[in-house]
Amino acid sequence: MLEAWSYARDADGRRAEIEIDSKGSKTMSAVKNEKQNRRRVFDVRLEKYYEELKDLYMGLYNDEEAFEYFIRMLKKSYRERKQSLREMDIRRADNPDMHHSNDMVGMMLYTENFAGDLKGVKDRLDYFKECGIKYVHLMPLLDSPEDSARSDGGYAVSDFRKVRPDLGTMEDLEKLAGSCHRRGIRVCLDFVMNHTSEDHEWAKAAREGDPLAQSRYYFYDDWDIPSAFEQTMPQVFPETAPGNFTFFEDMGKIVMTTFYPFQWDLNYCNPMVFNDMTDNMLYLANRGIDIVRLDAVPYIWKELGTKCRNLPQVHTLVRIMNIACRVVCPGVLLLGEVVMEPSKVLPYFGTEERPECDMLYNVTTMASIWHSMATRDVRLLVHQLRQIEYVPSNCIFQNYLRCHDDIGWGLDYDFLGLFGATEAPHKKYLNDWFTGKWQGSPSRGELYNDSEWMQDARLCGTTASLCGIETALKEGDEEALDRAIAADVMLHALILTLRGIPVFYSGDEIGMLNDYGYSDDPGRQADSRNIHRGKMDWEHAEERHDTSTPMGKLFGEIQKLVNTRKTNEIFHSDAHVYPVNTGDNRVLGMEREYGGKKMLAVFNFSPEFVDTEIETVGRIEPYGFRWLFGIGRD
Ligand code: GLC
Repeated sequence: MLEAWSYARDADGRRAEIEIDSKGSKTMSAVKNEKQNRRRVFDVRLEKYYEELKDLYMGLYNDEEAFEYFIRMLKKSYRERKQSLREMDIRRADNPDMHHSNDMVGMMLYTENFAGDLKGVKDRLDYFKECGIKYVHLMPLLDSPEDSARSDGGYAVSDFRKVRPDLGTMEDLEKLAGSCHRRGIRVCLDFVMNHTSEDHEWAKAAREGDPLAQSRYYFYDDWDIPSAFEQTMPQVFPETAPGNFTFFEDMGKIVMTTFYPFQWDLNYCNPMVFNDMTDNMLYLANRGIDIVRLDAVPYIWKELGTKCRNLPQVHTLVRIMNIACRVVCPGVLLLGEVVMEPSKVLPYFGTEERPECDMLYNVTTMASIWHSMATRDVRLLVHQLRQIEYVPSNCIFQNYLRCHDDIGWGLDYDFLGLFGATEAPHKKYLNDWFTGKWQGSPSRGELYNDSEWMQDARLCGTTASLCGIETALKEGDEEALDRAIAADVMLHALILTLRGIPVFYSGDEIGMLNDYGYSDDPGRQADSRNIHRGKMDWEHAEERHDTSTPMGKLFGEIQKLVNTRKTNEIFHSDAHVYPVNTGDNRVLGMEREYGGKKMLAVFNFSPEFVDTEIETVGRIEPYGFRWLFGIGRD
């Protein structure tokens, strides 16, 4: 007896029937059909994008052979994709906006700090459940130099297909991804595409003089071109890694190294670089990675006479990578790391017809939130929220307070100028505030890339330390501690209110403090970002269950908020979210509208009681907040 088992769908979502015999095995013809169907799925998907893909690719590279190689590479990647992942692609194709759901909450973490290694993370999956996490961003874990002074926290990759041995193996990563999927958790991984480590096999071959390998990077014999580049190219790390080029004495060559000297910029003018890097990205997607974080993506195309950031060619490349995913692994999303002002960030969403990134960091909002904490004035934040109010609903922001990087003060200084603030003194004020230099500030942070001549120092520190929890604990000041915890909870409530996906920086949910130990570690002391990259102390973390402890209070409050968000559709990412007037510049008001329902939220950015003009809110506590459901301002 033959039974029909609906097994897969073709690219248009139609079900394809597969025959199964009475013993439950697929018949020969079924296996053949399956193969044909698979081929058809790929062809149909490719056909949909082929013209655009070819136009974009040839417009950039004008190289038929390279284009054909690219298409073959896509086909190979599709063929290698596991059946379980293909099925997931199909399920997600049925519901492409699944990640807009109000239960999406993310957490980013360093595997080694969170649980030692990948197996350790797998053993801790219950913690994600406890925290309501549906998406985990594993910080760089691919092979990179052991010497931490040459690895940039894993952002100097020496092998895109190998996991750092101390963290486990590719198989461990696949197993972890599989376990996450079974629990409905998506896995995000960095794809460091602007550069490789100097230990990558291409860099090693280039160092040995292989001209093909050298053509994958920017190699020069003298300073003529590098100096010309330097005329217009800003510096990323002016203090810790000045200049955009490095002279290597052993080779007698100058290499473009925009970030650190041990991170060699890849030359994307060479189509083989793009082909191989896309192949690497798809390789990771085929290991079960659901969200690919395109690290430092604005920097990938360089051109003399420009700033070498956000050039039109970057957008072409990202669009092609988006198409590559739609063809090979349509369930996979691209998260762009564009740490810049809104006018530079928004184009990375592409257009509705030609999307580029599916998700982007809400970076200016994040910096504006911290500005509001230091100034106790929300006008800049309101202005920023208005800028992004009408971003199309397919464009999803990641909302966050802290991440592994520093906070850069890329604020709208034209707007601040209306109130008499100017850039350099304002940045200094913010840095003084958050490093606790300003009288009365309870914050404890450290500067990053503090350069006298640039006057553009950035800031490091954990949310808890920046909110004053560290100082209050040290001083044993109960009242200050309550205030600091309230501020920390209020900020979390805010990122849970904004439109998009809230992403916690691991440890923030239990109020982890700054880790000053980094300054004793020779490999890490030069980089103050390490202050907020401490190890999770699981023994201490047990206190999270005791609400009489500061940690328990914070954790309990944040979890309550996450649960409320999860069970309330008003927090869906397709909601219309916008700021409203509260009658007091210390208090931010926001409304959400979704499915005919409304919600009002208010956040007090000051340590005082404030009487708002909103009747239903009235007086609000120091650093207090309210979520009022079913209520709008009118
Ligand atoms: C990104 C990362 C940062 C790293 C840099 C260089 O900006 O977030 O941590 O230093 O890329 O790869």
